[in-house]
Amino acid sequence: MIYPIVIYGSQVLRQKAEPVTPDYPDLGKLIEDMFLTLSEADGVGLAAPQIGKSIKLFIVDCTPWGEEQPELADYRKVFINAEIYERSEETDFFNEGCLSLPGLHEDVRRPVSIRMRYLDENFVEHDEAFDGLPARVIQHEYDHTEGVVFTDRLSSLRRNLLRGKLTGLTKGKYRCAYKTKQI
Ligand code: NI
Repeated sequence: MIYPIVIYGSQVLRQKAEPVTPDYPDLGKLIEDMFLTLSEADGVGLAAPQIGKSIKLFIVDCTPWGEEQPELADYRKVFINAEIYERSEETDFFNEGCLSLPGLHEDVRRPVSIRMRYLDENFVEHDEAFDGLPARVIQHEYDHTEGVVFTDRLSSLRRNLLRGKLTGLTKGKYRCAYKTKQI
């Protein structure tokens, strides 16, 4: 099934998500449906809180960049109970958007590389370094499981300038091509 995407203003986007246990019901189906939902919305990442589930699960799909970066042509990954434990001092800017904040695109500063422990969809443990576009998307999605959205990472000046748009989102004033919900 394709899930409606939860829009900014919903409490679930502000909660710290709970760890996923191996006996979580129908996890495989949930992950499959998240990939379906993500591709339907033309996104590159989706975290479980964005479909109303406050659990530490997110998916990343970097394949839209596959043409410019062939190493990303098959880059689809699942991250469960991820924990970023190292962030590079070096940072850079990238223009981010978010399916939960339709219409907003802002340059966000983040570390260029990270180290992270996580479980994959088979509950196999990984300890891995990420950089480039995957590191960017992973940090954005990881934030969702911590109750953080990308506009929180902007300067207070920039955030103030966006206040009207953000309030608009909470009041249903947005347009997008995918199914959404406010909870
Ligand atoms: Ni997002």
